[in-house]
Amino acid sequence: MEQLLQQIDGYKKEIATYDEGDAETFRIRWLGTKGLVKTIMGEMKNVAPEQKKEAGQLLNEFKLFAEQRYEELKAVSANSKSIQPQAGQNSKPDLTLPGDPTPLGSRHPISLVKNQVVRIFQRLGFAVAEGPEIEDDWHNFTALNLPDNHPARDMQDTFYISQNPDWLLRTHTSNVQVREMEKGKLPVRIICPGRVYRNETISARAHCFFHQVEGLYIAENVSFADLKQTLYFFVQEMFGATVKIRFRPSYFPFTEPSAEMDISCLICNGEGCSVCKKTGWVEILGCGMVHPNVLDNCGIDSNKYTGFAFGMGIERITMLKYQIKDLRLFSENDQRFLKQFTSAV
Ligand code: PHE
Repeated sequence: MEQLLQQIDGYKKEIATYDEGDAETFRIRWLGTKGLVKTIMGEMKNVAPEQKKEAGQLLNEFKLFAEQRYEELKAVSANSKSIQPQAGQNSKPDLTLPGDPTPLGSRHPISLVKNQVVRIFQRLGFAVAEGPEIEDDWHNFTALNLPDNHPARDMQDTFYISQNPDWLLRTHTSNVQVREMEKGKLPVRIICPGRVYRNETISARAHCFFHQVEGLYIAENVSFADLKQTLYFFVQEMFGATVKIRFRPSYFPFTEPSAEMDISCLICNGEGCSVCKKTGWVEILGCGMVHPNVLDNCGIDSNKYTGFAFGMGIERITMLKYQIKDLRLFSENDQRFLKQFTSAV
């Protein structure tokens, strides 16, 4: 045992003297088929039976020690390969060689467009607000004038969380608007970007998750004219000065009056094509004046304050902007698709 201990001690000292670049020499002397680790393991047969357990442990530890050192040397030499001198050259490594380039990724088209939308509204004084994707029934539905069993709940087919029937995956980012209104700080002027979920069959035009930016402005004397002007500004910034808009009356439980906004088709300039289904217009968002019930539900005096809200799907705007025909491309992570969006915005 004594001898074995001494020998291992000597070996460890020698192992410590190896330098980067020595990995292969190290392997041959220590770990090869005729290497010293194998040889010293063979010493087991000379150890007295009552000491075999202890010696076995000792030798195993040593073996692991040598193997670990080899891994370290290998890693170091792999890293420093580019600065190792070439055979026949001056023996000093060339430290002036350029480093290995780190390839830069590109932003996802959804992030690009979302950031662009957010920045336009920020310039108008809107602040970004975010909230949970797993939400309770109150913040996603009830507070928004969608009480239990209200038929309008059918408009948004929902994923519920089986552990708790009160929990669901939010179907829009309006839940964030409710949370902000409940804080009671007025005026409220926010945009809420985020991911939302609906129980839809996946196809080229629908997915079970997508992204929205919703907006909310509540103060005294906010009118539908403010809503129109805000959205008009947004469209001109986003799509260019020549794009036209129109509002169509619509229904949302949380706004009254409600409207949907169309823009003149970017593909055919309003002439009529397959994207706009020959109408010359494409719908891009829903909007309206916040329903007094919603204000009351969130503790805001609906006699004193009014507000507008709007919500748009980022996928839809991205598809229009880049003429993408299939929604599934956004979540398939196909590099050939993603590499086409190289802007760093
Ligand atoms: N929350 C609505 C939706 O997801 C969009 C919307 C927001 C409509 C605000 C009107 C006002 O469909």
